[in-house]
Amino acid sequence: MIKSSAIGVYDSGFGGLSVWRELRRLLPEESLTYLGDGKNCPYGGRSREAIIGFAEAAVERLLEEGVKLIVVGCNTATTAAIDHLRERWPDLPIVGLEPAVKPACLTTRSRRIAVLATEHSLKSDMFLRTASRYAQDVEVLKVVGRDFVEIVEASEEHTDRADRAVRSVVEPLVGSGVDRIVLGCTHYPFLRPLIERIVGDSGIEVIDSGEAVARRVKWLLERYDIAQSEGATPEFKFLTFADEEYRGRLELKAQTIERELTNEK
Ligand code: DGL
Repeated sequence: MIKSSAIGVYDSGFGGLSVWRELRRLLPEESLTYLGDGKNCPYGGRSREAIIGFAEAAVERLLEEGVKLIVVGCNTATTAAIDHLRERWPDLPIVGLEPAVKPACLTTRSRRIAVLATEHSLKSDMFLRTASRYAQDVEVLKVVGRDFVEIVEASEEHTDRADRAVRSVVEPLVGSGVDRIVLGCTHYPFLRPLIERIVGDSGIEVIDSGEAVARRVKWLLERYDIAQSEGATPEFKFLTFADEEYRGRLELKAQTIERELTNEK
């Protein structure tokens, strides 16, 4: 593993780009190679075996590119495949994503939180383990973001379709006693402005895992002594199992994020 190699980021599609944003914020000198499957997306309703197969293919592809660390920027693939990936590549640093149940449970005052995620993630052993560890005296409402992934994949976050889908899921949570909504799927942060508009000033806080994951990546880079040297200019690459049009759309979305980050400064 060499310091100048890229970090590989993988998701079923566009979702991992919400993690990309946090990686770019915290680690601006690191090169990133992004693989958005696209061909098999959405993963949410698929079997564990199928998702393990997609994740293995993705890691193999990213290793062909010479990445030094892999971020599984997908809660669904993490819950299904991370143990398997770590067993198969024991020397490769692999960071997974889990819904931010812990911070939500530690900060909720109403002792009632909602976790929005895919069907697969909410049913997984990993989720049940985390929930039983941190949410003993907290009621956890499990809510599938119906159509959210498809909307983000179609770049329709700013349409009536998105408004309808988000309203039907989030409105019932407002006034339900929930004071934290956890975004447990990496596609969902792209709908965050809409979610926050619907939540309004109800006192509900919306939480995702992106920033925490970027901090974990930074920690691992330092621990393995593989962080990029200071002052380096990062390079970006985009890969997919779908077609060239899809690959181009991933790249465009990342460019939009880059512009937003520049405007934040
Ligand atoms: N972005 C993914 C997640 O975090 C998966 C979405 C999907 O493909 O269903 O769960």
